[in-house]
Amino acid sequence: MIEDRRTYRVYRRKDLAAHGLTRVGLYNYMWMDCVRFQLRLRRIEYLYNTKKNNPLKALAWFVEEVVQHWESVRLGFTIPKNVFGAGLCIVHRGTIVVSNKARVGDNCRIHPGTSIGDYDGAPEIGDNVYIGPGAKIFGPIKIGNNTAIGANAVVNRSFEGNGTLAGIPAQRVSKLGALEQGVFGERRENL
Ligand SMILES: CC(C)(COP(=O)(O)OP(=O)(O)OC[C@H]1O[C@@H](n2cnc3c(N)ncnc32)[C@H](O)[C@@H]1OP(=O)(O)O)[C@@H](O)C(=O)NCCC(=O)NCCS
Repeated sequence: MIEDRRTYRVYRRKDLAAHGLTRVGLYNYMWMDCVRFQLRLRRIEYLYNTKKNNPLKALAWFVEEVVQHWESVRLGFTIPKNVFGAGLCIVHRGTIVVSNKARVGDNCRIHPGTSIGDYDGAPEIGDNVYIGPGAKIFGPIKIGNNTAIGANAVVNRSFEGNGTLAGIPAQRVSKLGALEQGVFGERRENL
């Protein structure tokens, strides 16, 4: 969670790196909607978590929240603050719905059509997790580090340890995790 300026910078840098960027140029800011959304999400997390006894920060947070609400409606995102760890990559605009009770670790790559939902409890997802297009993950479940969740999977029970999950309901279809599947690297899709 972002609780100071130093952590804020780390999150920002890791998010940009997850998009294959080292800095935010005007081009990226203008045309890369998901990058712009994520940069604002991190600003909101920083301002919200550090605004106590600071009316200026509180005002800045409120303004950013209003702008983020419009932008979320435009892009189809329901993505709350303080859920995702550093190194998040929202690959495309399109419907993504995430419960504010869910927790997701570092280096998550998430596609559209996905939902991480509260259903008598919300998922806790580890680091280095790939969430393919259309995947639905819900309930009080735990997903281990280095997991690839395949396109259109419905994940309704816990899977500890790494691997690839696919199908409805999801099963472990391979022992190879997201890192071995190359979904963050050589198989990386175009943004
Ligand atoms: C995570 C993912 C990359 C793993 O795919 P993979 O490399 O085929 O995985 P594996 O080879 O380890 O698959 C093992 C088995 O599960 C099956 N499988 C893989 N993904 C599946 C899925 N999403 N649903 C059902 N079965 C699946 C494979 O066909 C294979 O079956 P087989 O042993 O009978 O041949 C893939 O599921 C996925 O989500 N890809 C999405 C890519 C995409 O849509 N990119 C564009 C985004 S815009």
